[in-house]
Amino acid sequence: MSRTPQEEEEIVSKVRHGLSSLKVTPINSPSVSRRGSGVITTPTGSTVAFHTRTAEERDATLPHATKKSMEDHLDKYTKLFTLTAQRMRMIVDAFEETLDKGLQEWGQCVPMFPTWVFGSPTGSEKGDYLALDMGGTNLRVCLVSLLGGCKFEITQTKYRLTEEQKQEDGEKLFDFCAECIKEFIKVHLPDVTAENPIVLGFTFSYPCLQERIDHGILIRWTKGFGAPNVEGHDVGELFRKSLERHQVPVVLAALINDTTGALIASQYVRPTTKIAVILGTGCNAAYTEEIKCIGKLKDKGLNGDDVVAINCEWGAFDSDLHQHLPRTKYDLHIDEHSNKPGEQAFEKMISGRYLGEIFRLVVMELIDEGAMFLGQNTYKLETAYSLDTAFLSLMESDPTDELLTIIGIFSHFYGLETTLAERQFFRALARLIGRRAARLSACGIAAIVRKKGYLEKGCDVGADGTLYNKYPGFPQRIHQALVDVLGEQGKNIKTHHAEDGSGVGSAIIAAMTKARKDAGKYPDL
Ligand code: GLC
Repeated sequence: MSRTPQEEEEIVSKVRHGLSSLKVTPINSPSVSRRGSGVITTPTGSTVAFHTRTAEERDATLPHATKKSMEDHLDKYTKLFTLTAQRMRMIVDAFEETLDKGLQEWGQCVPMFPTWVFGSPTGSEKGDYLALDMGGTNLRVCLVSLLGGCKFEITQTKYRLTEEQKQEDGEKLFDFCAECIKEFIKVHLPDVTAENPIVLGFTFSYPCLQERIDHGILIRWTKGFGAPNVEGHDVGELFRKSLERHQVPVVLAALINDTTGALIASQYVRPTTKIAVILGTGCNAAYTEEIKCIGKLKDKGLNGDDVVAINCEWGAFDSDLHQHLPRTKYDLHIDEHSNKPGEQAFEKMISGRYLGEIFRLVVMELIDEGAMFLGQNTYKLETAYSLDTAFLSLMESDPTDELLTIIGIFSHFYGLETTLAERQFFRALARLIGRRAARLSACGIAAIVRKKGYLEKGCDVGADGTLYNKYPGFPQRIHQALVDVLGEQGKNIKTHHAEDGSGVGSAIIAAMTKARKDAGKYPDL
């Protein structure tokens, strides 16, 4: 279950502002849980109440987690979730090899897709472009005015994608996109007509094999999408058909991954950027590669000295052999119960879509072991994906000694009372899970850095996504991990918040593509 940034904000403010007014209410849920209290109606019709306690009834005699036992549990989870520098170096070695394999041969687990975005932006790109951003959670239509001198203006409208839309037929999904663009043009661009169409970049952030820049066969849905009749098809073509059906005056110039957009948008304002990562609902990276290093392009007749952006799709790392990532039983559970078992092994240990669920699975294990919440009804916590990653951010940033935010989260959202020892455990657990995600992300960055030999001179990394932007300490943890794995020179690798790649980056790529084709360079790509 993913939430929009607005919903996350709402949760955050509800918890923050609601703390003073929150009252722990007795659990009188009629639903029957295998744990805690409730009411059961027997087949004969009589009603049996069991073990319901109210806040006032709670006392020291209630079986509850003590500080000592929570510390014991924490030791166990610390061992499970901690990545030593040595372990990280092993992962980086394997990662580097995997990246290279993907560059040399088609059809690899980490596919290293050439994106046909050649070179870097000059900063002097100009003009109005549309960008359609279909990420993991929202659909966004942006009008980007590139003003030259590395400046731009943006006007945008966001549409919420429902869970149903993510699963309904692909044609419907792209028709919805076309309708949103049509509506946007009507409101913001009255001069755009069939005779005077506007150029659009479509940021479609899922693994696509591209034969040219406005084409892309969807290899597989990721991030919980499952719309039928899209996998194995050209998304550019499906989208163009929807635009035609709805008579939308738009020319599709480029199909773009969010990482590629982030790379180009970051280079637009910081030309020293060589790598971009997205750490949000999904996780992935793009970087600039020389054509001569891409063995699988050797028969394409391209100039070996040209550079092209590579969309790594590194979320799939180790999904084929499961040899390198130290997956816990919680990671395995998430994989097995996902709509795409056996895929995106790396992403499932890192991205915001899954961290809250990892946390919840650990807590459920402790409940099953009788280590916490005895005598309380835990049914709300039993629902898969009911604990959002935003809660982990909140728990980690709770500034109070009593950990009042954590009291608020558990009582308000799950109707559960917590002891201080439990709350300290929860915060420590969130730290372990968040830290592991940051350290794994750093392994991917370190692998690209080493592969490209950027360590000595250093390089800038554009980074975006809710984890990077909102999770407390995530960038610092990445930097620390880079030093752990690469030594002092790791300090030469600096991440920066990327410009809006899926909007602005997409528009810049549309402009670069138009300029490239107008100049007759690789017109068929
Ligand atoms: C998933 C997608 C990838 C995208 C990433 C970040 O890993 O497969 O294309 O870049 O999420 O949004």
